[in-house]
Amino acid sequence: MLRREMRTLSSTAGHDAAHIGAGAAGEAHLEARDVVIEYPKPGSKEMTTAVERCDLTLDRGDFVCLVGPSGCGKTTFLNAVAGFVKIAEGALELDGRPIPGPGPDRAMVFQQANLLPWRTVQANVSYGLELSRKAKKPAARQRADELLDLVGLAGVGQQYPAQLSGGMQARVNLARALAVDPEILLLDEPFAAIDAQTREVLQVELLRVCAAREVTALFVTHDIAEAAFLADRVCVFSPRPGRIVKEITVPWDRPRSHEIRRTPEFAQLCDEIADVLYGVKAGVGDEKEGSR
Ligand SMILES: Nc1ncnc2c1ncn2[C@@H]1O[C@H](COP(=O)(O)OP(=O)(O)OP(=O)(O)O)[C@@H](O)[C@H]1O
Ligand SMILES: [Mg+2]
Repeated sequence: MLRREMRTLSSTAGHDAAHIGAGAAGEAHLEARDVVIEYPKPGSKEMTTAVERCDLTLDRGDFVCLVGPSGCGKTTFLNAVAGFVKIAEGALELDGRPIPGPGPDRAMVFQQANLLPWRTVQANVSYGLELSRKAKKPAARQRADELLDLVGLAGVGQQYPAQLSGGMQARVNLARALAVDPEILLLDEPFAAIDAQTREVLQVELLRVCAAREVTALFVTHDIAEAAFLADRVCVFSPRPGRIVKEITVPWDRPRSHEIRRTPEFAQLCDEIADVLYGVKAGVGDEKEGSR
């Protein structure tokens, strides 16, 4: 509830007030300012700009969804936050410090679960923890069981990935990311390959898990309704080179239940996101909402 109150405060008082709800030093948890990310063009000394002057601020516990056309730089931006890709210009900071590289404080959840087929579900979830030597094997396995319980998979720890449905594998994928106790979850279309019905169930579960673990989430999706259902704010990217052209605040507290999907307000919100995404309202998309 405190987070929501802080958000309301920041919504009414403008950008500077958004920092009031941040870490102890007063800074945002994650802040991108004018971030530019480039890749070398194959067979040339020139660079391709994937992300152009991207601004984004997340406070602790925020859930922000990124939507945008294919190839606009969403995955690239997540990779930069994960520390896999370096930025060319601007500032990308965690708790006021530049991101030095990958770290256990951030965990990535990819679309493909890519579980290790020769390890049991429990051993897949505990794998990162065992590798990091943060916990001895029995403790890591016990932690894996707790996380499997959290994601609704109690009792399947001794099965192998091939014995699970796609939805179950997506849950294992999430449990595996949570095993290292990250502060920030970076989710790149994690439910894109899942059928619509299971996806909606997983969305509710994800919100519950995020609330239980108090994680900050940055979630990429092409599914407008998914973004509207999950996020505190939906950030719409322009086509490549991608920058955030509009940040839309979602009015409901989290966790949420399926009922909100059937409200006229939800349909209106989805329309608003789609209008910016598809450029229906020419000229209004190139501005961030006054809330941030
Ligand atoms: N490793 C790389 N080397 C060179 N160019 C890359 C690399 N990764 C991505 N790109 C380019 O950067 C741009 C942004 O790619 P990115 O994967 O971030 O887009 P995206 O928004 O995630 O797209 P999608 O919605 O299809 O997943 C694209 O033009 C892509 O070709
Ligand atoms: Mg992508």
